[in-house]
Amino acid sequence: MDTNSSSSILVQKLSEAGQSHLLHFWDKLSPDDQISLTRSLELMDFGEINTFFKKAMETSASIKEKMDTRMEAVPRDVLGSVTRDRDSVKDWELEGLSCISQSKVAVLLLAGGQGTRLGSSYPKGMYDVGLPSHKTLFQIQAERIVRLQQLAEQKHNVKCCIPWYIMTSSRTMSSTKEYFAQNKYFGLEKKNVIFFQQGMLPALDYQGKIILESKGKPSMAPDGNGGLYRALGNQGITDDMEQREIQFIHVYCVDNILVKVADPGFIGFCVKKGADCGAKVVEKTNPTEAVGVVCKVDGDYQVVEYSEITLATAEMRSADGRLMFNAANVANHFFSFAFLKDIVQKHEPRLQHHVAQKKIPYMNTEGELIKPDKPNGIKMEKFVFDIFQFAKNFVVYEVLREDEFSPLKNADSQDGKDTPTMARHALMSLHHRWVLNAGGHFIDENGTRVPAIPRGGAAGSVTADGNRNLKDGTDLPIKCEISPLVSYGGEGLEELVKGKEFHPTLTIDQDGIHELVKNGV
Ligand code: UTP
Repeated sequence: MDTNSSSSILVQKLSEAGQSHLLHFWDKLSPDDQISLTRSLELMDFGEINTFFKKAMETSASIKEKMDTRMEAVPRDVLGSVTRDRDSVKDWELEGLSCISQSKVAVLLLAGGQGTRLGSSYPKGMYDVGLPSHKTLFQIQAERIVRLQQLAEQKHNVKCCIPWYIMTSSRTMSSTKEYFAQNKYFGLEKKNVIFFQQGMLPALDYQGKIILESKGKPSMAPDGNGGLYRALGNQGITDDMEQREIQFIHVYCVDNILVKVADPGFIGFCVKKGADCGAKVVEKTNPTEAVGVVCKVDGDYQVVEYSEITLATAEMRSADGRLMFNAANVANHFFSFAFLKDIVQKHEPRLQHHVAQKKIPYMNTEGELIKPDKPNGIKMEKFVFDIFQFAKNFVVYEVLREDEFSPLKNADSQDGKDTPTMARHALMSLHHRWVLNAGGHFIDENGTRVPAIPRGGAAGSVTADGNRNLKDGTDLPIKCEISPLVSYGGEGLEELVKGKEFHPTLTIDQDGIHELVKNGV
């Protein structure tokens, strides 16, 4: 490296931070690569990175003992349930819709992840799971917002808006923005779709040295979905919310195809309870399901991962026969604006990073790219739910898994859970049920009515291992897709389908009802 003053400052900074190895290949880099490495290193706060590393390693070393004895289940008085409190759901929905009509509600989408398991080269929100319409996750969510705005406007006879804040990372920002622009924001107003970018952190080896992924490039990853809180502050998003007089925020993840964006029931429940923070959950029914549960630990709410408790605790049951710790986290949260602002301004620096051990490709000192077959380093992430502990009035809202939760995590080729096929089937199964509930029927190619519960178990039913029964070809759901622009949550379908018979594939959109009898999609 030459010795002009800015370079020598950088050399000194690296040396003081114990990160001089990042310049190991300096002389072998092209001038352009030298400039780009210098820029990326100048942007790093090495003191902070080293402190994060130290603290994260200390915390991860100290969480060896199980949580069991410190845990307490969610008390009934903070819990609202769409099945156990059926009589109240309508009131909650009306309350939520009223807040939406007053433009007090915003939605905040966490879309900064890398989607490594899914393995697509573009942002996960742009993924097409193969629905008849080929709509992507982003489009489905956008159209749900459009429809919900209409429902609130019709009910209250006012114009309203649900601003949509979308968190991306430096890897996904430009493609996400371009995609929305190309698609004219799917019917939303451009000024109400606000993109912002979360931070990135370098991957480190076990000694805290930043890993090089190539000769001139440190290995970087987004700082976890809890990077949200820092980004909200430093990108001026809380200020924007304040200017718009937002009071309630629904935060959710991009990968859940069934997500009820700005769910009026959830918002209404939280508002009526005077909550500052709320978590939507689904019932965990299988003790060994690998899912985090919302509960209290030493008196504060948090999400406890399945690996942090013993089987005996996971199997404990309440008097009603349900699992004691059954509030499975689905990363759907409610925040009052005041609470969120407090987090951003006061508590964010206190949040600890979690350590994930990963196999991180690296450049060795000979300049060879090594792809390790066992973990060789760590990535540090904050989680969106790390702030539950600061809530003064925390509530939990339980919904049905088959209606609201089907995350897209893995590629179909991986033969696992949470694949595009499962997401597609979950949505079609829900829409099939909407049609049946609205009085419609399906017939097969011989004109015979298809039984409401298909042979071999309903699509969406639960198998012995707790998974949805969708993989076997005999359990394929009826092909049915309803545009969110027609129905947000199953409403408004009676006038379209009641007493009628349909051949799958059935699609209902703003142009009407379509049946694709031969060209099953
Ligand atoms: P996951 O932890 O499932 O990560 O994120 P992912 O990126 O979707 O997939 P993998 O783990 O790389 O395979 C859950 C949600 O949190 C968001 C994701 O976009 C997804 O909506 N997320 C994750 C962020 O917004 N930022 C992050 O740094 C990490």
